[in-house]
Amino acid sequence: MSEKPRLRIGVLGSGKGSTFAAIADARATGRLPVEISLVLSDVADAGILEQARRRGIPAQHIAPGDYRTKLDENAEAAFIETLRVARVDLIVLAGFMRILKGDFLRAFTNRVINIHPSLLPSFTGLAAWKQALEYGVKITGCTVHLVDQGIDTGRILGQSAVPVLPEDSPDSLRHRIQETEQTLYPEILRQIALGEIKLG
Ligand code: GAR
Repeated sequence: MSEKPRLRIGVLGSGKGSTFAAIADARATGRLPVEISLVLSDVADAGILEQARRRGIPAQHIAPGDYRTKLDENAEAAFIETLRVARVDLIVLAGFMRILKGDFLRAFTNRVINIHPSLLPSFTGLAAWKQALEYGVKITGCTVHLVDQGIDTGRILGQSAVPVLPEDSPDSLRHRIQETEQTLYPEILRQIALGEIKLG
């Protein structure tokens, strides 16, 4: 009997790639039944590309164009085409710091997920751990959600709580949230791959 083909994921990131590394390690140890088809970054020297190459996963930089917070038209088309050629079923944002809207989301309706370092709907946007600390909440955390046209507004797929400690600095809190993300994201991906979470 032929096996069901595995979910093919494409990972997009702009930073160090610690979240991606946790996903790749979960896959390598058999805990996560997906194929990581490729990793794309808008940042030429992003650690995430190096993390992928070290593991033998195709990794590519695509120049984002002149905007600071989004992709220009050519870059957006290049991202879409590259992900299509790789026959990716699901796009996993792991620290991708540009807003994806319009054509990109229409090309992959209900097929783009993100991890955000707060308990949404609180603290959307940048440096969410710092916003939580400044607000004075006693519990924050991280959220995996579907990406829609808004900023950090799509359907919530999973969350983990992280206590804010009296002695926390922005860095210590960010670090603990990131450790939690590294457990939550592979787990939610596993549930999607097994059909336990439906994306619609
Ligand atoms: C992660 O903490 C992720 O939650 C955050 O960027 C970090 C990436 O770190 N993403 C966002 O803030 C998206 N709005 P990494 O490159 O080491 O995985």
